[in-house]
Amino acid sequence: MTGKPIVAIDGPAAAGKGTLARRLAAELGLPYLDTGLLYRAAGRRVLDTGGDPADPTVAEAAARSLLPSDLNRNDLRGPLADAAAASVASIPAVRAALLAFQRDFAERDGAVLDGRDIGTVIFPDAVAKLFVTASLTERARRRWQELRTAGMDAEIATVETDMRQRDAKDAARTAAPLRPAADAYRLDTSDLDAEAAFRSAIAFVRGRIGPR
Ligand code: C5P
Repeated sequence: MTGKPIVAIDGPAAAGKGTLARRLAAELGLPYLDTGLLYRAAGRRVLDTGGDPADPTVAEAAARSLLPSDLNRNDLRGPLADAAAASVASIPAVRAALLAFQRDFAERDGAVLDGRDIGTVIFPDAVAKLFVTASLTERARRRWQELRTAGMDAEIATVETDMRQRDAKDAARTAAPLRPAADAYRLDTSDLDAEAAFRSAIAFVRGRIGPR
């Protein structure tokens, strides 16, 4: 297939989506968008004004006023940003406001996008969909390691509890809940390193899009 392939990658936090998506994009020569950054940046904008990320009016205004430069902020990670992102993400008007940004991003050249609802809502016709998972224990270990590497102090048990709560919120919300698309290729990375996950994913994607 030529043209503008969309590769949709969904799954829970710290399952390895970002690493995989970035590498697939580089391999396929496609732009890459980490859509979690949109929700993180909208949540941060709310926090900047001292507002409540669960307030639909404030959160929608933040999502509508988002600028591409907001995605480069250096305070989009960490427990506060995680919680604010998950709160704004459960508001339907926020999701609606961020839909066009995601579709426009892929309009010209196609793209690899990772998130929670890329294959189910944003690009239901994506040529290749992956649902990337790993056990909660392994995902918490990876996130804890990332936080430590970034110089943030964290208890692994707290990271696991926060992650369990955020996953539950993402899966239980009525607006675009986290779930695999029926036609997604499921990849469990619990026992795979980044290289093995990439090899499995690229074989699937190439089978779907053909040579590029
Ligand atoms: O992927 P990441 O952990 O950065 O996403 C942060 C939060 O943003 C998630 O917990 C989820 O609530 C929300 N999100 C979403 N839909 C996406 C991407 C992220 O609801 N496509």
